[in-house]
Amino acid sequence: MRAVDIIANKRAGKAHSREELEFWINGVVNGTIPDYQITAWLMAVCLKGMNFDETAILTELIAKTGTVLDLSSIADFVLDKHSSGGVGDKITLILIPLMAACGGKIAKLSGRGLGHTGGTIDKLESIKGFNTNLTIENFIEQVKKIGCAIASQTSDLAYADKKFYELRDVTATVDCLPLITSSIVSKKVASGANVIVLDVKCGDGAIVKTKDEAEKLSTIMVEVAKRLNRSITAVISSMEEPLGHNIGNALEIIESVEVLKGRGAKDLVDLTFELGSILLTKSHRTETKEEAVELMKSKIADGSALNKFRELIKAQNGDDSCIDDYKKLPKASIIEPLKAEKAGYLKKIKTYELAVACKILGAGREKKTDSIDHAVGVVLNKKVGEKIDLEEKLVDIYANDKEKLAIAEKMLAEAFVITEEPVSPEPLIYKVIE
Ligand code: URA
Repeated sequence: MRAVDIIANKRAGKAHSREELEFWINGVVNGTIPDYQITAWLMAVCLKGMNFDETAILTELIAKTGTVLDLSSIADFVLDKHSSGGVGDKITLILIPLMAACGGKIAKLSGRGLGHTGGTIDKLESIKGFNTNLTIENFIEQVKKIGCAIASQTSDLAYADKKFYELRDVTATVDCLPLITSSIVSKKVASGANVIVLDVKCGDGAIVKTKDEAEKLSTIMVEVAKRLNRSITAVISSMEEPLGHNIGNALEIIESVEVLKGRGAKDLVDLTFELGSILLTKSHRTETKEEAVELMKSKIADGSALNKFRELIKAQNGDDSCIDDYKKLPKASIIEPLKAEKAGYLKKIKTYELAVACKILGAGREKKTDSIDHAVGVVLNKKVGEKIDLEEKLVDIYANDKEKLAIAEKMLAEAFVITEEPVSPEPLIYKVIE
């Protein structure tokens, strides 16, 4: 078998056999297939697709390219959550301490930004000293001790995904259903949790843009997981506008803390409760979703969810004083408001463009090796459907570089669509698939 023939087969639209996929994944792991052949194959998969069997086999093989964690020593039910990627999506930062405050055990391995979307690890690294590189032993110990941990996906877990992920990020091969499925589900299988909820984002700011595609992706992920003996619930949620108000790494830490202090934006709170109630009912902590929501509300109201976040930060060597004093987080030197040029109702936020503007400000990477600026981003003053007066502030832009600010400002000015007629926003949650 030769790598070039496998690429040619996929380019011709043929389905791969298990043997071909085994040869391919082995070559990726042991380094005999170079990056240029891997990226040619990734592009061929994007263009020609994969059938269900190929996707399931690929997922299984990727999951086995590293350690498959055994978390059974932690508890009967260990929880996990994953998002397919969004803009302003800080739900992990809220949900993980909240689940632990509700008595759950939640073990979360997270990634960095992918494409235009943000990553939890980048956000957490805004906190001084926060260590995202836990050994597997420390990761498990911490979940046993305080109920939660958020760590960076180590190379000894689903190694082939780490390789593909980095190459996909910079070769326009992110938005491809079999690649997304094998990436997410392989990691969830390898991460070892047994109650898993996926937040499948759909819309302008998501990797998949349409409801049809999101439903197809959710169904494939749920079915592939079943084939691999994992139970996953997929929630399809809207990414037609950013989640909450803050986009950018340190800015998202601030907004997450605000939610845990009981001052969260409605969309953030609603989606957190939807995902959390699935985890709490499936792990038999509560009998009904309504009870789960009441439990979560009480853990926010009595301060225990916020305390759990503090415990999590401390356990991972971070400076938890940022919870009480946001000035302890990286701060932008320029804060520039962008004002509305006409009055009306906010019909649409071009979320992809807004994310690209944040990336230009420095919140994300253009190349694998780029470092990011944790302080920059935008804070929305308006959400879709809200009334806007002439010259009213749409956003504050947080920047550290005047040239980058000028480019971002231009892009952002185009990103807000205002109409004269009242607008009803899209529902936040479209469907749950299990
Ligand atoms: N998140 C992942 O982990 N992988 C993808 O391919 C897309 C989103």
